[in-house]
Amino acid sequence: MKKINLGLLGFGTIGSGVLRVLRKKAALLENKLGLRISLKRVCEVNPVLVKKLRSKKVDVCNNADRILEDPQIDIVIELIGGIHPAKEYILKALRNKKHVVTANKALLAEEGEDIFKTAKENGVDVYFEASVGGGIPIIRSLREGLIANKIESIYGIINGTSNYILTRMSESGCDFKSALKEAQKRGYAEKNPHFDISGIDCAHKIAILARICFNQAVKFKDIYIEGINDIELSDLNYAQEFGFCIKLLAIAKKAKDGLQIRVHPCLVPKGHVLANVRSVYNAVFIKADLIGKALLQGEGAGQLPTASAVVGDVISISQKIGLESQMDFLKIKGSNLSKKILSMDQLNTRYYFRFTALDKPEVLSKISRILGKFKISIYSVIQKGRRQSQAVPIVMMTHEAREKDICKALAQINKLSFIKKKTVAIRVEGI
Ligand code: HSE
Repeated sequence: MKKINLGLLGFGTIGSGVLRVLRKKAALLENKLGLRISLKRVCEVNPVLVKKLRSKKVDVCNNADRILEDPQIDIVIELIGGIHPAKEYILKALRNKKHVVTANKALLAEEGEDIFKTAKENGVDVYFEASVGGGIPIIRSLREGLIANKIESIYGIINGTSNYILTRMSESGCDFKSALKEAQKRGYAEKNPHFDISGIDCAHKIAILARICFNQAVKFKDIYIEGINDIELSDLNYAQEFGFCIKLLAIAKKAKDGLQIRVHPCLVPKGHVLANVRSVYNAVFIKADLIGKALLQGEGAGQLPTASAVVGDVISISQKIGLESQMDFLKIKGSNLSKKILSMDQLNTRYYFRFTALDKPEVLSKISRILGKFKISIYSVIQKGRRQSQAVPIVMMTHEAREKDICKALAQINKLSFIKKKTVAIRVEGI
């Protein structure tokens, strides 16, 4: 039976999940594949993890070269995360003709060009299913099952931590901080949870998905990013009253003159399938010419769903090793930036506003005068409570308006003396 040797860089939560899955499923995989997949060596420096690995009789090293330069190792699994030294390790593995499996979304989103180019030059491949959507096989679906489709748009709930926080806040009235603590305790959050709640993690993931959907490199800095930091419990409640829920969406969409790629909180109609994606679940809603609309949903974070994606990639590569190279078919193309990424100014959508304003005559008329000046038409408005000469929330929904006009109007409104806090503005997504 052919043996495929693996080298693993990093034995954190996902790495130990990969070892668990490989051991537990060894017999099943041998039966199904006719291949023996063996974890030859792990590189780890944390003494606690080294001890754990030794207790499991795994060959451990503290120098990545013992994996990257070992001619017997066929596939390198990179699970250390971050840009450096992960990038250098991956490049070295590729130059040494080893295939790579990685979950490193930040690296692929920000430095993917070098990685894919080096893989191509060396006739090896990089698989990265675990980088987006944990247990959902979204990358494989886009690259294989949906390959004949022209993708029009994708809308992703692709950060489990943010979705968990928003769900806990809206369903249990839990506050932001304690919901985040819960997500961290459950192992969903990034080492630096700022990446989760500020939208950066989503932006990394949508850069990867957009690249596959639209077959072009996406410059990370071109992505508009806004997180859930400013969302308050009251916004979730007011949105409910208007018939919406709030979700952090990562959107990649074809527009007339280019591509929109953006991450921000959105009001999603309660009846839409994405509104019902709760807790740590991730989902990607795809609109394409042949399939129409499709939703892929599953656990987007956590040890075993992510390990499942890593092992799936290992198996795909293992099946190909020894066969005639069919890889060009699956490889991501280089960087022919054909469609430009549109600036947010050109976005046209409906908006939710929460003004915090003194409760006194003429407040609404002054706000609406400014909105009118920028051709922003009001759909509905509610004042919450009555506190004479004190600040109250005024919640408003607009008709479609241009982002550029919204920004100008809000800048003027926020300067009014009776506005006591920066206005919260959330886009409504007509999906
Ligand atoms: N921190 C990420 C999330 C983990 O919350 O979705 C998976 O990428």
